[in-house]
Amino acid sequence: MFKTIGILTGGGDAPGLNAVIRAVVKTANGQFGMNVIGIEDGFEGLLGETRTRPLTQSDVRGLLPRGGTILGTRNRGRFVEHTKEGLATTSKEVYDEAVRNLSRLSIDALIVLGGEGTLTIAAEFDRLGVPVVGVPKTIDNDLACTELTFGFVTALDIATEALDRLHTTAESHDRVMILEVMGRNAGWIALHSGIAGGADVILIPELPFSMDSVANKIRAREIGGSNFSIIVAAEGAVEAGHDQIFQDSGDKQHAPRLGGIAVYCRTQLEALTGKETRCVVLGHLQRGGRPNAFDRMLATTYGAHAVRALAEGKRAAMVALQAGDVITVPISDAVANVKTVPPDGQMVRTARDIGISFGAVDETKYHVSSSSSAIN
Ligand code: F6P
Repeated sequence: MFKTIGILTGGGDAPGLNAVIRAVVKTANGQFGMNVIGIEDGFEGLLGETRTRPLTQSDVRGLLPRGGTILGTRNRGRFVEHTKEGLATTSKEVYDEAVRNLSRLSIDALIVLGGEGTLTIAAEFDRLGVPVVGVPKTIDNDLACTELTFGFVTALDIATEALDRLHTTAESHDRVMILEVMGRNAGWIALHSGIAGGADVILIPELPFSMDSVANKIRAREIGGSNFSIIVAAEGAVEAGHDQIFQDSGDKQHAPRLGGIAVYCRTQLEALTGKETRCVVLGHLQRGGRPNAFDRMLATTYGAHAVRALAEGKRAAMVALQAGDVITVPISDAVANVKTVPPDGQMVRTARDIGISFGAVDETKYHVSSSSSAIN
């Protein structure tokens, strides 16, 4: 049994990070008699003048509903470099320094809360002899081997509420409204919020869209008596034959940031349809603030299970939700591929069944009826 475990949060924040920290401390202290040390600012807190603090049950009181992370977080920092060719592992010295510091701090094992980037680094620590269990965090829900990452369902609630609010103003002004949501190269937030929020068009990276097809949907709605339309676009959505749109080109520490698809569609669709069009970029509102009840529950279960997994001797593992059960899977499997929306999956089918368009080049073939509420 480990005497002391460390915990850190890496990558973009997500609602529920503090709820996991709370569950880890309560389970480690109360159930297994382990001490917990919080490492600040992701793995960066293990370099140079290390930044750590002991976490006791009184330190985590009141944390369950709190957004952000009390430990701070960093996007990869010095452990992985972004190069033009992709990701490159930083020099071995950076890892060696961190491992030495873990030993000096008497931290026997790590619980790492993160997405694909952070968990890739975590697996390297395990390879260097530090037992690691990961907890899948990201509002994007794009980690493989788990049906849900914590933070996703809260982000979904926020995007859905935004769509609800856009509906009333769109309808009042007979406008087209475009909501741009996050998700990197996965369309989970757009797809699920588009269904939950009653969007007319959903644009996701997995299904390259045709601007004409989107314009046709807007026109078809007009013919059917609906003078407004709601579009939800994933930031990674891409027009067929074009490249994704980025807001910056990134640097060594950050991958290039996606963004700008809503503004682009707005200009194009206004020209094609003649309809007044507005766009909203929901941005970090999707990540900030309180986790909803589901994410508090999921985060708590993940946190408790991560401690139990470490205590049972699991290594280089990630807790995961599969068919309603929380289990562990190898981190290497979880980070091998990004989990994207299957273009022929059930949610896409459901959306099409109720008349939502994905603006696909061949969209009409997915809609049997040719009535005005259908695509063309
Ligand atoms: O991965 C989570 C996420 O919120 C993505 O959806 C988004 O593309 C990115 O992080 C934004 O990153 P940053 O916090 O660097 O703006």
